[in-house]
Amino acid sequence: MTKRKVIIDTDPGIDDALAIMAALQHPDLDVLGLTSVAGNKGIHFTTDNAARLLTLFESDIKVYRGATNDYLSLKAGKGERADEAGFVHGASGLGSVELPIDPVVHGERGAIDFILETIKAYPGEVDIIALGPVTNLALCLEKDLETMKQVRTIHSMGGGVHRGNRSPVAEFNYWFDPTAVDMLYTQLGPHVPIWMIGLDVTHQGITDLNDLTFMKMAGGELGELIFEMMQFYVNTYWHQNGYMGAVVHDLMAMIGYIYPEMYQEIHHANLRCVNDSVLAKGQCIVDLHNQFNWEKNAYIPMSANIRFYKEKIMAVLFGEEVAEDYKKRVKSMS
Ligand code: RIB
Ligand code: CA
Repeated sequence: MTKRKVIIDTDPGIDDALAIMAALQHPDLDVLGLTSVAGNKGIHFTTDNAARLLTLFESDIKVYRGATNDYLSLKAGKGERADEAGFVHGASGLGSVELPIDPVVHGERGAIDFILETIKAYPGEVDIIALGPVTNLALCLEKDLETMKQVRTIHSMGGGVHRGNRSPVAEFNYWFDPTAVDMLYTQLGPHVPIWMIGLDVTHQGITDLNDLTFMKMAGGELGELIFEMMQFYVNTYWHQNGYMGAVVHDLMAMIGYIYPEMYQEIHHANLRCVNDSVLAKGQCIVDLHNQFNWEKNAYIPMSANIRFYKEKIMAVLFGEEVAEDYKKRVKSMS
């Protein structure tokens, strides 16, 4: 079976890290490179954290440095955006975990050049998994829309129809750069299938304390590392959301990309993103039931098979044998 060619655009970030761990281990994916973007942390942190993950898995691919700020700030010549979500992902962006970097994993080109050159090399074959603000993708389509129309699909973790986490109406990635979001869906969405994996579906799949304990007990060294990395993130969700676990948003976006049969109630609809309001900045305006016949530009799953999702997490991160052990233990508790 031909492997699926993938670029992961990311702002690691603890949940990005688990998504990248899954992608780097999955036999059906040919991850061509990571591109970093400012988001959870400033570009220095997100680029280095992506490099740490490639070093951890001794990967031969590279991370290509991307946008240092949101689209409009870049156009206004503003400098690097600093920490926006340190309170969620910790000082380093990976919780309390410290990982080394092999300098060889840093790509020489910038993210925009890498993305466009890769799509030109493989027209119609490359999928982009966007796990942070979509600034890099907006810069790519601004520079060369015709090449971006050659992308096979885009899966973007972000947004929400009925939920927010940066404000009551806005999700963090889309709040960070709403102009880029609106450019992406209006200019590219009619030509390239763009999946919006939003908070409505990600919050259905809480990775709970049982799941994390299982990872630590049965997942070997990687399971122990993930358990440690997730502590800071769980602490945030314990206090902010009252959860006994955490929502690993980007991991759901990755698992759903690999196994789209996980998603249920998929809407093909028009999505716009508010970029001209302080109060509603980043809100997704979605004609979910096509009442207004606006041009459809997004695929939006509103629910998922969570049992399937959790079993796939264990299989992709730790192997089928561990996943079978997980299924047995969950069944024994039901
Ligand atoms: O709102 C959740 C999203 O914002 C995730 O991608 C997380 O990593 C942050 O980037
Ligand atoms: Ca992210």
